[in-house]
Amino acid sequence: MKKITKAVFPVAGMGSRFLPATKASPKEMMPVVDKPLIQYAVEEAIAAGITDMVFITGRNKRAIEDHFDKAYELEAELVMRGKEELLRILREVIPAHINCIYIRQTEPLGLGHAVLCAKPVVQDEPFAVILADDLIDGDTPVIKQMVDVFQRHQCSILGVKNVPREQTRQYGIVSSTALEAGLELVNGIVEKPKPEDAPTTLAVVGRYILTPRIFHHLEKVHAGAGGEIQLTDGIAALMKEEKMLAYRFNGTRYDCGSKLGYLKAMVALGLKHPEVRDEFAAYLQSLKNH
Ligand code: G1P
Repeated sequence: MKKITKAVFPVAGMGSRFLPATKASPKEMMPVVDKPLIQYAVEEAIAAGITDMVFITGRNKRAIEDHFDKAYELEAELVMRGKEELLRILREVIPAHINCIYIRQTEPLGLGHAVLCAKPVVQDEPFAVILADDLIDGDTPVIKQMVDVFQRHQCSILGVKNVPREQTRQYGIVSSTALEAGLELVNGIVEKPKPEDAPTTLAVVGRYILTPRIFHHLEKVHAGAGGEIQLTDGIAALMKEEKMLAYRFNGTRYDCGSKLGYLKAMVALGLKHPEVRDEFAAYLQSLKNH
């Protein structure tokens, strides 16, 4: 029985949809209430029992490394001032048993290429891929739900949800046959089809569990949609030789790669945040009454 101990976070993207906010700082560091997107992603992995976090970074992404490093001076200052609560929050960012590994993707060649950059660290183990700009709020963290499915099936798993047909151009779209409640057997996948060409409306949403055989296929994949080496194309090849499942996860997904999705996430998580939820709810209510 294999276990998932590693998660890959592709964080080298330019974040052009959020310019100028992302001109000098990574999009993954944009906060939702008081935590950056990448921290939500890492916390999801930790909740699934994953211990090795592999970040595929690029230029201008050093803030991510700093975020998961010990903030020595800041801690010393908070100790001196007796700010226990803030110190706790700071230290909780990355628990002691977690390893952070950083690999540079030197050219923006696509998501498939970014995942391939993790090969020297992941080697021959199954692993998770988490896209931080897909923020998913679920009672059970989504990657934990998928690790549980993996424990039963020991194969690659794609996190999926239905999207409106006019949006298929933004996603990898899966064809599948039902297996059991919430689980389907994947028999086709295509990257960003036009609505009229999309075989279904079942979209891959930023969460994957992949067997190491994916690397073999990613090494052979040529540039696809958008001129990039697509993870979807590697998955399409892998699917032909290994069982692959699509999992309809439980949870609400916010597309924080888009302004509207990011705003929705901010409102939803703001309404859950113990420090501000009551006043924030009252404020939103007052807007409605205007
Ligand atoms: C990527 C993948 C796509 C997937 C999507 C999920 O696209 O290429 O298959 O459906 O993430 O968010 P991107 O959003 O990077 O364009």
